[in-house]
Amino acid sequence: MSSNRTKILVVFYSMTGNVAKLAAAVAQGANRVPDTEVRIRQVPELIPKEKFNEVMAKVKQELKDIPIATMEDLEWANGIAFGTPTRFGNMSAQMKNFIDQTGGLWQKGALVNKVAGIFTSTSTQHGGQESTILTSMVPLFHHGMILVGVPFSETRLFSIDPVSGGSPYGASSVSGPGADRAPIENEIEIAKTLGKRIANIAKKLV
Ligand SMILES: Cc1cc2nc3c(=O)[nH]c(=O)nc-3n(C[C@H](O)[C@H](O)[C@H](O)COP(=O)(O)O)c2cc1C
Repeated sequence: MSSNRTKILVVFYSMTGNVAKLAAAVAQGANRVPDTEVRIRQVPELIPKEKFNEVMAKVKQELKDIPIATMEDLEWANGIAFGTPTRFGNMSAQMKNFIDQTGGLWQKGALVNKVAGIFTSTSTQHGGQESTILTSMVPLFHHGMILVGVPFSETRLFSIDPVSGGSPYGASSVSGPGADRAPIENEIEIAKTLGKRIANIAKKLV
């Protein structure tokens, strides 16, 4: 691939598949920007295989061909979308574990001025999407990244019926108590908008 392409990394963790679906939408949105190259990566699982339930085992099988993210992926990218399920109003341990391995990159300022955005999924409507997105931004500010969200020019943010994720802080979905409500069209489209926005801004800054 030619090096003057804008490089976008979509890196995520997903246990029951919802964030993975949002990740695909974010990648699709980024790919809409001409001359963009997108990598989709997942962070390592921390839960032992023997603890997987049936749904988790199925999702892990579905995601098995998505490569595990490396520090090189982060260095490679001009823009990065981070996706994590909400865990008690914060990012998942799996994503935090990955970010906590970026000390070396921080020391050499490798992520300074790269564009970043966040997407998440909760089971409940008010279960902490915004707190997850905002707190996920904190370590990225330490890295000197340029954080972007979704402006209200994306009019799908105004939609409240049916219940929908999506906020000015980033993309999101509401998966329901059984985590089995796949992202609805409104949420998917907002996720695409986030991906496109990260790629567009990264392109301008490259
Ligand atoms: C340990 C744990 C903590 C969670 N914390 C929250 C929470 O604070 N708020 C919420 O609405 N959902 C919470 N959830 C639900 C997940 O965030 C939700 O099911 C999400 O859609 C899962 O994304 P995934 O399908 O990509 O794994 C939690 C789930 C687990 C297992």
